Amino acid sequence: MQRASTARGAAGSGAVLLLVLVSVAVLPGASGGGRKTALGGEARGVARYSNKGANVEAAPPPRRTPAPPAAGSPPAAGSPAQFRGQARLPRFAAPRRYELRLRPDLVACTFTGAAAVTVAVSAPTRFLVLNAADLTVDRASIRFRDLAPKEVVFFPDDEILVLGFANNLPLGEGVLSIKFNGTLNDQMRGFYRSKYHYKGQMKNMAVTQFESVDARRCFPCWDEPAFKAKFKLTLEVPPGMVALSNMPIANQTVTGPIKTISYQESPLMSTYLVAIVVGLLEYIEGVTPEGTRVRVYTQVGKSNHGKFALDVGVKSLHLYKDYFGTPYPLPKLDMVAIPDFAAGAMENYGLVTYREVALLFDEESSAESSKQNIAITVAHELAHQWFGNLVTMEWWTHLWLNEGFATWVSHLAVDSFFPQWNIWTQFLDATTAGLKLDSLEESHPIEVEIHHANEVDEIFDAISYDKGASVIRMLQNYLGAERFQKALASYIQKFAYSNAKTEDLWAVLEEKSGEPIKNLMTTWTKQQGYPVVNAKLNGNYLELEQAQFLSDGSPGHGMWIVPVTAGCGSYDMQKKFLLKGKSDRLDIRDIASQCGNQEKGGNFWIKLNINQTGFYRVQYDDKLAAALQTALQSKKLSLMDKIGIVEDSHALSMACKQTLTTLLRLLYAYREEADYSVLSHINTVSLSVAKISVDATPGLVGDIKQLLIKLLLPPAVKLGWDPKNSENHLDALLRPVLLVALVKLGHDKSINEGIRRFGIFVHDRNTSLLPPDTRKAAYLAAMQNVTTSYRSAYNDLLKVYRESDEAEEKGRVLSTLCHCKDKNIVLESLNLLFTDEVRSQDAYYVLQGLGVETRETTWLWLKGNWDRITKKYGGTQQGGFIRYVLTLFASNEKAAEFSRFFATHKNPEFERTLKQSLENVRINARWIQGIRSEPRLAQTVQELLRGP
Ligand code: BES
Ligand code: ZN
Repeated sequence: MQRASTARGAAGSGAVLLLVLVSVAVLPGASGGGRKTALGGEARGVARYSNKGANVEAAPPPRRTPAPPAAGSPPAAGSPAQFRGQARLPRFAAPRRYELRLRPDLVACTFTGAAAVTVAVSAPTRFLVLNAADLTVDRASIRFRDLAPKEVVFFPDDEILVLGFANNLPLGEGVLSIKFNGTLNDQMRGFYRSKYHYKGQMKNMAVTQFESVDARRCFPCWDEPAFKAKFKLTLEVPPGMVALSNMPIANQTVTGPIKTISYQESPLMSTYLVAIVVGLLEYIEGVTPEGTRVRVYTQVGKSNHGKFALDVGVKSLHLYKDYFGTPYPLPKLDMVAIPDFAAGAMENYGLVTYREVALLFDEESSAESSKQNIAITVAHELAHQWFGNLVTMEWWTHLWLNEGFATWVSHLAVDSFFPQWNIWTQFLDATTAGLKLDSLEESHPIEVEIHHANEVDEIFDAISYDKGASVIRMLQNYLGAERFQKALASYIQKFAYSNAKTEDLWAVLEEKSGEPIKNLMTTWTKQQGYPVVNAKLNGNYLELEQAQFLSDGSPGHGMWIVPVTAGCGSYDMQKKFLLKGKSDRLDIRDIASQCGNQEKGGNFWIKLNINQTGFYRVQYDDKLAAALQTALQSKKLSLMDKIGIVEDSHALSMACKQTLTTLLRLLYAYREEADYSVLSHINTVSLSVAKISVDATPGLVGDIKQLLIKLLLPPAVKLGWDPKNSENHLDALLRPVLLVALVKLGHDKSINEGIRRFGIFVHDRNTSLLPPDTRKAAYLAAMQNVTTSYRSAYNDLLKVYRESDEAEEKGRVLSTLCHCKDKNIVLESLNLLFTDEVRSQDAYYVLQGLGVETRETTWLWLKGNWDRITKKYGGTQQGGFIRYVLTLFASNEKAAEFSRFFATHKNPEFERTLKQSLENVRINARWIQGIRSEPRLAQTVQELLRGP
């Protein structure tokens, strides 16, 4: 599956690449009475870790306590500072209903607002504690039940506003009113501005992105998922503008230059799902069979590109209503394409926002992979309308309930709309990404402790999404599709308009299935990592032993309840059992009867983890491995099993549990493969092997590349550069994968053909010789020969970039600009990231294209420009810079150098990503040592190169 066109997809096995940066909160302090202290321009984490600007003592925050005080806990007496350093807000007061009035100024890029929040006080206290950040609160405006607070203290580290009243507050409900103002920032979070062109003029759009913890940057609020409340919004905007929010318009009036729009009141919902979009937009519209109105909004002139997404959206709402046994909860659904957008898409209740490439599709100008990406993204966000929005995680520890489920169920939906896409086979991309990240010591459990808001963004990663989705698939397989769906539907009904924890889901599943789900599943969600199951054949028994799999080769201590499946000689009869302890053995007499005679070979093979439904790896003894390779070559295995076998072998080789020599022999067994999914895994494994060979066996790297070309060329030749009439989706996806790989591996003929087609394209953008699908391969080919003194192809590409107004095309060009051996060109491309020419949402495209040849230059650039990067790209997106640059390296010395540098450039928002990147560098260093000691590698490569 191609997810590279979203920020999150690009992060691969790491955290979401959110492009967020923020200036420091500007608020009057306790006795300051409107005194403003600005610290603008600093990075988010840096700012939050300084106490400058707040009228409080600069003491270090107290130790954090993960659990919130329960409702009805002892009264909060004492001073405002007692609320610092807590992971969560106190529960003695909770919002019930927000009345919000906001007036964005799209020219000055500011906004003013007024909130009237109905708050229920449930225990004696003289305080109200809520979140706020980057807002200027009008101190004099604050009232609770007509009482003015005695103290108004803002703690920037904690992003909380503490209102201290003279006396204990009456129990029960009262209204808190606050006026405030803020900036429409350029950091794509909170309430921000996005830029677009309208009739040749640059315009601003006002947009919100609140997940995870940025609603507090738009209005003061209880900004935690468990504080659900009703929202009644009113917006004041220029009359010509379209203004959207979660709910339909209730009332609209125009007075002079101001249009006042009030929206219907929402049902109970979390703050991170509130949304606003204001801009010059047009739309297309559809309706579900249930009568729900669905619209796709775009910049003026692009709405017809929304047809595909609209169709998928309408179908998704219909499907999920049946699947979850609950109707879509809101009166309308809008989906909007936003020109500047940090993530790929955001599931705001009733107002889903997308970056343009994740929503807009045009038969003429979009690649086939975009179509699939759009379908998956729409299906994912709409799944959240139930799983996430209607039933919401109780705390960020349970984020995976949102993201793992939406990821899993989006495949279920897309599979039903487009059965020919074979999407469940492509789902193994997710499983692969999950297994990869989770093989690190620096991984984390699916249920991860969160101590501070600045830790949340980093867990939107391959653990929450991909491991989460994979263990759901594992569970569904274990329980059976129907039982699983029924239990899910009753879970949704039980927790609708409320919050749930992971164990709430297990409890419902257990009740509905009568199976001990909690025991089974907690080994997967509360424990990081996963096992490798070692399989040995001993007479009629298959001996199995589990051990934690770690890419650095070290033994881990984890132990799982593993749902093992086994097939022997056929898929007709499978063995299923739970491996509960360290080891066990499986009597295979019954299934072995189909296997033929094991000694004589015949049809004998045993495959564990049939169709890779389990989240584990398998290492076979030599005999079983040889039999599987034979079965593979004689086309006996399913696509998913073929993928599992090569992925496991790749991982085992990397961990030095198996030789590269063995991996290369196995790869060679795939030389007649024609399937898209299998070949796309063969492709990534091949490129990983080519990359490591550069350091491990410089003398052999040319031959290894030739061998990989030998593997990938036949299916590429079969497909050719030109699409066939009415060819299927998967072949259209496969072509660019193969051509890009061949160009990267240095296949002369492919490079020359790419250059030839690029030359024609430069003069005729409409040539049929270079449709969107094959363009990237041609761009890479053209870049291959660019140098400072021979830069016409580079100039041509920049021209294509500048002339295109399509996000997909721009991303495509950016992703090729660093594919060059000339370090000055690479530097020039990297420096584009500091200009206005590249939207900061698109920076990752450039980084993605970096190569091993110019890595020293890149690292020097990163180091030398770190302050600028921090300034423009802030905390979480810096994680992407770190990951892409550091993992180009493979030596312990380099890892040590990186550690030294970042020891003085710390930031909690990329701490996890940094540790994971360093670990990957060291794993590669160890892999290199292993490869260097392989005695038969060179000989095997020669042998395979000469072979049939
Ligand atoms: N809830 C997320 C968006 C998000 C991500 C918000 C990170 C805050 C931080 C949304 O549902 C999502 O998962 N989007 C994905 C696309 C999806 C198809 C996997 C993304 O943005 O990549
Ligand atoms: Zn999601």
